[in-house]
Amino acid sequence: VRRGHFEALRPVCPVCRVDAPLAISLAVREANDDLLEGILGCTNHECLREYPVVDGVPVIVGPIRAWLGANPLQLLARTDLSPQLESLIGDVLGPGSAYDTQRQHAGIYAHDHYGSDASSALALLDRVNDVEGPLLDLGCSTGRTTFHLAERTKQLTLGVDLNAAMLRIASRVLREGNASYDIRRVGVVYERKEIAFASEAAPLVDFWCCDASALPFARATFGCAAALNLLDCVGAPHEFLRELARVIRANGTALMTTPYDWSAGATPVEHWLGGHSQRGANRGASEPVVRALLEEGFTIEREEERVPWRVRLHDRAAVDYDAHVVLARRRIS
Ligand SMILES: C[S@@+](CC[C@H](N)C(=O)[O-])C[C@H]1O[C@@H](n2cnc3c(N)ncnc32)[C@H](O)[C@@H]1O
Ligand SMILES: [Zn+2]
Repeated sequence: VRRGHFEALRPVCPVCRVDAPLAISLAVREANDDLLEGILGCTNHECLREYPVVDGVPVIVGPIRAWLGANPLQLLARTDLSPQLESLIGDVLGPGSAYDTQRQHAGIYAHDHYGSDASSALALLDRVNDVEGPLLDLGCSTGRTTFHLAERTKQLTLGVDLNAAMLRIASRVLREGNASYDIRRVGVVYERKEIAFASEAAPLVDFWCCDASALPFARATFGCAAALNLLDCVGAPHEFLRELARVIRANGTALMTTPYDWSAGATPVEHWLGGHSQRGANRGASEPVVRALLEEGFTIEREEERVPWRVRLHDRAAVDYDAHVVLARRRIS
């Protein structure tokens, strides 16, 4: 946690939220204004929940016990093993293991964000112009889009994701200018890749682990939020859209892109926005549902039906999505 971001954004406990600011209750490892390892505590005496800071990334997640129980590797996996040992461990644990899933997902986004091919996620940000800060990059994954937003706007920018393994790559790039990840070649065969990336906007950037559907911020904290390809990945899309409207201030901007690739693994079917009930008024289409929900708090200023977004899976496979892109302005409420 950069102390500058912490003080400017004044995070609150995601469980208590109102009038329960978080405070740094333990600093174990620090560098300049940067808390690398420590504990953030809720200041509400009836709560006193604690949130860990690991490798510079604060994990400000309400159900922290369930989150860590489901994802211990995301915080605890080591990053110092040689490719040869990672390869052996990958072979032993095999496909579908938590280890393989984490390695694969982190590699997909790290490679799109920092690999040699032009990033298709970065191109989506061309629509963000003349916005006020601070900015939020929701579902930022390995963080390249967060750096890009800060470079474009010269404003304080926070990358938020619920996957701490991806955020540890983002944090390493932010703090060291380098990181490594594995891209999948075939099966459980991976190749180690090194990132060397320095952004002149790095001092404006930080990465926090939070649920986009339960953000630890007071209402109207941000002037702009981007949510690239996140909506169909969250467990609670209604809450996520409500949070988007809550944390953006009047006249602020939201950029949302999504290919509506709903899956039961990420979102229970009853929470999908469209994608089911083809006998209903919208014949199961997602766009009208999302439009209507957004229009509860925003005025839609620009909409693009099909914008390419490509996700590489392995040497011989990629998914070509057409994302629905919406740029909206928060109404004065
Ligand atoms: C399809 S990826 C898109 C990543 C990045 N925005 C891009 O376009 O390259 C979705 C990201 O959302 C994150 N995510 C899923 N559910 C989330 C939640 N509830 N809150 C925050 N991030 C979440 C995932 O960990 C993943 O990094
Ligand atoms: Zn609390």
